[in-house]
Amino acid sequence: MSTVLVLNGPNLGRLDIRDSSVYGTLNFSQLVEFISKEASQLGFVADVRQSDSESEIVGWLHEAADAKIPVIINPAAFTHYSYAIRDAAEMLKVPLIEVHLSNPLAREEFRHTSVISGIATGTVAGFGPDSYRLALIALNGILSK
Ligand code: DQA
Repeated sequence: MSTVLVLNGPNLGRLDIRDSSVYGTLNFSQLVEFISKEASQLGFVADVRQSDSESEIVGWLHEAADAKIPVIINPAAFTHYSYAIRDAAEMLKVPLIEVHLSNPLAREEFRHTSVISGIATGTVAGFGPDSYRLALIALNGILSK
């Protein structure tokens, strides 16, 4: 089974406290369980991580670049301004799929910019936890070509 790194940015570890009308009703451990189950059905092992620290996420992207592990990333608020995460993600020679639980384009204007989308293989947003499932399906399609 091949590994996929599923990275999650700041405040996603606190989904139980965040607005459920925007982010849904799963808490972070339930989201991890959902992603792991969907991944294993497609033959992947999901290494799901969450951090509030930009530097930790940059380190994980370096690890993925060195080990050539494909990445699914929900950069959370870092989506909108982290050039450090973008630059680290740009070094990947394997697919990187950006995901969001909500649809940032349907929300406040500051969320309409993603500094990550331009270097991502693709983006899935607005489908709640299914955004991760759809990203896994897309990744499976890319890797089986
Ligand atoms: C998010 C959208 C971001 O704008 C926000 O800062 C998040 C979560 C999403 O999954 O919908 O923390 O990435």
